[in-house]
Amino acid sequence: MTSPDIELADTSTAVPGAEWWRTAVIYQIYPRSFSDSSGDGIGDLPGITSRLDDLRSLGVDALWLSPFQRSPQKDAGYDVSDYCDVDPLFGTLADFDELLDQAHRRGIRLIVDLVPNHSSDQHRWFQEALAAGPGSRERARYLFRDGRGLDGDVPPNNWESIFGGPAWTRVVEADGSLGQWYLHLFDSSQPDFDWSNEEVREEFRRILRFWLDRGVDGFRVDVAHGLIKAEGLPDYSPDPEGGSMGGDEEGVPYWGQPGVHEVYRDWHAVLAEYDGDRALCAEAWRPTPEETALWVRPDEMHQAFNFPYLETEWDAAALRDVITESLRAFGSVGAPSTWVLSNHDVVRHASRLALTAENPQGHGIGPKSVGKPIADVGLRRARAATTVMLGLPGSAYLYQGEELGLPEVIDLDDDTRQDPTWFRTGGERYGRDGCRVPLPWSSDAPAYGFSATGESWLPQPAEWATLAREVQAEDEASTLSLYRALLAARRARHLGEGTLEWLDGFDAQVLAFRNGNVTVVANTGSTPVALPDGIVIAASGPLGRATIPADTAVWLADD
Ligand code: BGC
Repeated sequence: MTSPDIELADTSTAVPGAEWWRTAVIYQIYPRSFSDSSGDGIGDLPGITSRLDDLRSLGVDALWLSPFQRSPQKDAGYDVSDYCDVDPLFGTLADFDELLDQAHRRGIRLIVDLVPNHSSDQHRWFQEALAAGPGSRERARYLFRDGRGLDGDVPPNNWESIFGGPAWTRVVEADGSLGQWYLHLFDSSQPDFDWSNEEVREEFRRILRFWLDRGVDGFRVDVAHGLIKAEGLPDYSPDPEGGSMGGDEEGVPYWGQPGVHEVYRDWHAVLAEYDGDRALCAEAWRPTPEETALWVRPDEMHQAFNFPYLETEWDAAALRDVITESLRAFGSVGAPSTWVLSNHDVVRHASRLALTAENPQGHGIGPKSVGKPIADVGLRRARAATTVMLGLPGSAYLYQGEELGLPEVIDLDDDTRQDPTWFRTGGERYGRDGCRVPLPWSSDAPAYGFSATGESWLPQPAEWATLAREVQAEDEASTLSLYRALLAARRARHLGEGTLEWLDGFDAQVLAFRNGNVTVVANTGSTPVALPDGIVIAASGPLGRATIPADTAVWLADD
């Protein structure tokens, strides 16, 4: 590894209003699919450390690591059995410390995933709860309830798991009889904690401090809208066409309950005990930016993912509305807006933006899906959408592989799929494996350089040879070169700190705004539009002589 030359600024002198997370570009690493140093086909922490120079040259400010803590991997690590250790699949705590240190030496911050809604059923607490029986202190850490019906064989309510099937599983008590039921909003291996229990709250303060003491810069908080359930656990039937995480629905008794905010006020105070700008980012799927902004009021979290933006179609008017509403809503509580187009739970935006049929979040696409995307339209739109996103003020999230223009992998064989969604819906929903396929690093190495042995926990498509990072690094027209150029210009021109001003007078299919001395113009339509005056500093695709072609965006500077 080359010797690093950038150190993190002294974070203890941070100026209120200028904290790093207000403007940062944060790159999501999905550890099992990033880089595998051990050769077992699953990425690991030393693999990430070995690639930090690539991330520095990409130009990101921070990394978010999806879970690497101890876990039976029933939901790819979002089923945690020990919150304060590294799963041997990914390495050791010493490997984590080395990764954190090497990232910091390169001026890159690191946030880790925290999964507070549920643990793994292999967590010590859950095993103790099973053994201890009804009415015990151990059961009170989770949501155990007696069943309905004469024999208690009807679940306590009608809730469905986000991954399909019932949200309750009945346990066999120590004496061999069928007993109580426990709630799991996700897989049956992911029992929900009871957040009205002070013991749970205290345990999570301890977990936060464990990672803060090691020096992490913050946390991405999983299912941050789900911790508190409505009093009495009333029945509720979700809209079958709705997204899995409830982004579009109101009045759901397990999403966005008012009491959830108290938890984050408490965590805010824990983070404030530490030097530097440690940050909390909420994964809270809410229908509007206004509702999402409730998670980032001044004494709560620092950022929240802008899922309404992610869910907006490639359409100038719709984008203008959601951007305006985001800046207004987050700004009204003193928080930065965030922007995101892809992550490990959604169809990659190089495919999603060219889907021609409804595709609710979490359902995924596969061989039998209708409305499959046309690949080159998807990539063109994705590059344009990213060019718009990185021109916006605030903080932006990137998902590993989008800088290579990776599409969703649609034709995975059924027997390679691993998402619990696929199993719990009997194959009716493909789930999220298609956005989780391991990255291609070089075109002619085994597993395209992901692992030295050629192992890869999901198979990589043959076409990915041409998308490998090494190939794209040499090609000025590649998606990787576009991301590098956008990130370098964004940094040099301080666009993260900027202010957005809409520009009018363009065709209806055009989105146009100014941020500082940069004009961003995107053509979301199907015919070319006039290219305004200015010096082109970045373009998502080839431009006409004086035109911006369909599905193309451009950055223009005055000087
Ligand atoms: C994570 C998913 C995970 C679920 C349950 C989420 O929203 O991002 O990947 O399956 O929470 O933890």
